[in-house]
Amino acid sequence: MLLTVKDISKTYSNGKQALKDVSFSVHKGEFVSVIGPSGAGKSTMLRCINQLVVPDKGEVRFNGIDLMKNNKKQLRKNRCKIGMIFQHYNLVSRLTTIENVLHGRLGYKSSLSGSLGQYTEDEKKQAFRLLKRVGLDKFAYTRCDELSGGQKQRVGIARALMQEPELILCDEPIASLDPKSSKVVMDYLKKITTEMNITCLVNLHQVEVAINYSDRIIGVTDGRIVFDNLPEHLDSEQINEIYLSKELLV
Ligand SMILES: Nc1ncnc2c1ncn2[C@@H]1O[C@H](COP(=O)(O)OP(=O)(O)O)[C@@H](O)[C@H]1O
Ligand SMILES: [Mg+2]
Repeated sequence: MLLTVKDISKTYSNGKQALKDVSFSVHKGEFVSVIGPSGAGKSTMLRCINQLVVPDKGEVRFNGIDLMKNNKKQLRKNRCKIGMIFQHYNLVSRLTTIENVLHGRLGYKSSLSGSLGQYTEDEKKQAFRLLKRVGLDKFAYTRCDELSGGQKQRVGIARALMQEPELILCDEPIASLDPKSSKVVMDYLKKITTEMNITCLVNLHQVEVAINYSDRIIGVTDGRIVFDNLPEHLDSEQINEIYLSKELLV
């Protein structure tokens, strides 16, 4: 197991309980999708893994180490091995593509050398190689705000890979993209993580996409896991159960 989450709960300061005793595991190299209605707790679950949101209780074991018990320095080190991809890309728009990819190395640097943009030749070469892998080497010196949404997300993938991650967390990576760009982005994500043996946990809105790309699917509803199985076991009854509580509210 690369990741084992055990009995984590999270109540936000406004009293909203977003997660209720959530447990699951992810094997090394697995591609796992998390589906569920809006507000189900998918983003909270993902953020609890890298401790961007700190759970109220439970364990988050990454390579056997409970990140909940990490001090700041240990957490910083472990976070380097966990890449993140966001719905809105989180790129620095006034910087070039290659500079954004290099930002994937920031976790490894002192804040001074990072803020001065000091990177080694090897790091620069690696950034180019990764841009090439996502088909964007021609755009290395293009400002990120000139790229399309799909291209921006491919920069996001290259930046995450620049961390040399063991795990990549993706929070709705294609929610802002048209179907064609969505396919391109998902294809790159799947291909590269498979080739590089990187584990991937992806929050998705679209059930179809989850079925097409995943080794396993986790269904979340109202802060609880109600499905955790192979895509072929996700039938319409299960889908209804995952999305039901929301439909009743609408
Ligand atoms: N920072 C926050 N403060 C208070 N409530 C939050 C916060 N973030 C999320 N929530 C609430 O927690 C629940 C789960 O949210 P979230 O994890 O974003 O779900 P999802 O990603 O599945 O849409 C929702 O009811 C949401 O409104
Ligand atoms: Mg979300």
